[in-house]
Amino acid sequence: MALAPAPARTWRRSMSMSMSFQHKGAGAPARTRPAHSHQVAGPWPMRDVDVSRRTTDRAVWRRPPGSRRAARVGMIRTISPFARTTPDNHERSLMNIGIIGAGNIGGVLARRLPTKGHQVKIANSRGPETLDAEVTSTGAHGVTAEEAATDVDVLILSIPLSRIPDLAPVVGTLPAETVVIDTGNYYPARDGAIEALDGGQVESEWVSEQLGRPVLKAWNAILAQRLVDGDREAGDPERTAIPVAGDGEDAKSVALGLVEDSGFDAVDAGSLAESWRQQPGSPVYCTSLTAAEVPDALAAAQRDRSAGRRDLAIAVITDRAQDPTRTVDGDFLTRLNRVLYQ
Ligand SMILES: NC(=O)c1ccc[n+]([C@@H]2O[C@H](COP(=O)([O-])OP(=O)(O)OC[C@H]3O[C@@H](n4cnc5c(N)ncnc54)[C@H](OP(=O)(O)O)[C@@H]3O)[C@@H](O)[C@H]2O)c1
Repeated sequence: MALAPAPARTWRRSMSMSMSFQHKGAGAPARTRPAHSHQVAGPWPMRDVDVSRRTTDRAVWRRPPGSRRAARVGMIRTISPFARTTPDNHERSLMNIGIIGAGNIGGVLARRLPTKGHQVKIANSRGPETLDAEVTSTGAHGVTAEEAATDVDVLILSIPLSRIPDLAPVVGTLPAETVVIDTGNYYPARDGAIEALDGGQVESEWVSEQLGRPVLKAWNAILAQRLVDGDREAGDPERTAIPVAGDGEDAKSVALGLVEDSGFDAVDAGSLAESWRQQPGSPVYCTSLTAAEVPDALAAAQRDRSAGRRDLAIAVITDRAQDPTRTVDGDFLTRLNRVLYQ
């Protein structure tokens, strides 16, 4: 889909948000299977959960122009866990968004989110003057990392995982209601060994600890190339889905909505504690599934096998990259991940 600049709009802080930093438990006991296309059907405690018991309605708030008070403009109906947000149940809100990291993932989000009317600021490590012109071509503003984290509703972190601790001073100044979304993944070959993660700590819980605040996990399980070329209009049956994990209903709604705005179906993948289900090596990780397929893939994840499968994939990719007669492109990576992870 071509990216077009967004029409000029007045930015409004859009939502009143409260956030819980409690990590949920393993889930509800098994119940009768619901007649819902995105139900969970896997070999773990969430299996056959009656999702109708987990339906909640939440108000969506926007601040009208010239007003200091937010007004209720609609409701979001969320069915959790592993529920897809659909265009008809997602009330869009325009956001002020900061992005730190302007590479494969952050750079694409910076181009795409302004086309949906969001105000976007983006930073890399070297300063705004070094940003690729394409990154700001649809209206995002190049700024420093400190500026990217100033006066925003949402801050997206898209940097190598090992660099996350660098951002603690910047992120630490954010108000509690700012939604922080992490796109990161742990690759020891890139990040160096991180003992806690090698010991099995959930990656985004480690990120949350480093930053001293809650985060959500999104866009980590989509290949960079698919993020560029795999976006589709809502309702397209071929639309790829992206899992979103995290705590706090309002924060989750914001993250789900932004994933939809980036051109992909969003699937609620549960709490941050459950986000190991979308880490590298898991069945949902960079395998380009639809919203109907994601819940089963999340349910089928095997926590103790994902890291080994991730490392197998890296070994195959490294080997192939040494062969000048072969390519390592998005199609190859998707095929490889499907074979190894599913
Ligand atoms: N590539 C993928 O297919 C993919 C898919 C899903 C998720 N992810 C994950 O998403 C994260 C980002 O991946 P990527 O491929 O977009 O990385 P990338 O292309 O290497 O880009 C990283 C960006 O982070 C910036 N950066 C690094 N340290 C920083 C700091 N301390 N302060 C501010 N900016 C900093 C870099 O700035 P400079 O440009 O100045 O160096 C660069 O713009 C990683 O954790 C990755 O595992 C990647």
